[in-house]
Amino acid sequence: MARPQDPFIGRDILNGQFQILQKIGSGGMGSVYKALQPAMNRMVAVKILHPKLANRKDLVSRFRREARAMSHLTHPNTVKVLLYGELEDGSLYIVMEYLDGKNLNQTVRAEGPMTLERGLPILIQASNALEEAHRAGIIHRDLKPENIFLSQQGGMKDYAKVLDFGLAKVTEREMRPGSIILTQEGMVFGTPEFMSPEQAQGKTLTPASDIYSLAIILYEVLTGKLPFEAKNPMEYIQLHVTAKPKPINERVPGRTFPPLLWSVLEKALAKKSEERYASGGEFAHALGAVLNGLPHVPPYENGQAMRPVMASVPGAPQPPAAQPAPAAPTAPPRSSPLPRLASRRGKQPSVGLLVGVAVAFLVVGAVLAALVMKLVMK
Ligand SMILES: Nc1ncnc2c1ncn2[C@@H]1O[C@H](COP(=O)(O)OP(=O)(O)O)[C@@H](O)[C@H]1O
Ligand SMILES: [Mg+2]
Repeated sequence: MARPQDPFIGRDILNGQFQILQKIGSGGMGSVYKALQPAMNRMVAVKILHPKLANRKDLVSRFRREARAMSHLTHPNTVKVLLYGELEDGSLYIVMEYLDGKNLNQTVRAEGPMTLERGLPILIQASNALEEAHRAGIIHRDLKPENIFLSQQGGMKDYAKVLDFGLAKVTEREMRPGSIILTQEGMVFGTPEFMSPEQAQGKTLTPASDIYSLAIILYEVLTGKLPFEAKNPMEYIQLHVTAKPKPINERVPGRTFPPLLWSVLEKALAKKSEERYASGGEFAHALGAVLNGLPHVPPYENGQAMRPVMASVPGAPQPPAAQPAPAAPTAPPRSSPLPRLASRRGKQPSVGLLVGVAVAFLVVGAVLAALVMKLVMK
């Protein structure tokens, strides 16, 4: 090929620990390469911050933050970070497990929209990965099909891996609307098509911002279309803030989905973040109900996500009887559409009540003791 050769290709880095073979991806911040680790006789993926950006303090600290955030996450559906640091020439790098497969965007472009049976387990796995991040106080902020990878692992197809925590934990100030496009390189913080309304407005983000992005991803995976029709990125940003998403059953002629899918998506796409599912685990739980063909989402108990994590690992439709859906209680759903709020409200007062009763006992005890003392003194 007559393209100018990438300076990293063919290079040995870190005293020959890794041999960079080929480029497998590139984005605003740098490039991702496939590399050989001879000592372990395995392939790895190495992400290197663009040397041109190495003097940008903000980007350097962002890259470091990505490495640090990811290296603390252990969920099987989050890409594993093996090592990170600085190369001999000062370039920053992250060494990750090498994933064999394609990202979700490449997959949908090559194979077309997915069936519910294929798309839901992928999003359930990604949501479960996000649950761990959310619990650790990490918001991804740049969820989009390019950042969800479908790998083959242990004989399984569609093993989802969440990538690219490059925007995780960006401070609020950096997310002001005026700074959405931050560099001349045209780097965009957050991706307009998948951006939550609050992200589009530069407001403080909660995990529910990631839920909104996951819902847009699911919508696109199932229909090949986005829930809004816009001509340019700025228009998308505006529509996220103001427009009602197009009902999924009106998006693809001749294709209908179960009504529960739309109720779940509508809730996940609520303009007000507090009306959405609050975390990855809760969203995975709701998607599991759709996958199981339930008429409603059973009540979600905080912490429940820790169990379905394992169930969702073999979530690809391939292996025998493995159930990708969260092991939701099978009791008939008698929930309101907001089981989370109901259960939280149910729990907090009961703790308050216990404290109240304890205090009351103490007061009564003290009064009685005083009375007894008085009587004794007399
Ligand atoms: N560990 C990996 N194994 C295989 N391919 C990967 C890996 N990490 C990233 N990629 C590929 O490179 C692309 C860009 O990686 P990403 O981490 O999203 O970087 P960027 O910050 O440039 O968007 C991904 O969409 C994916 O196709
Ligand atoms: Mg990316």
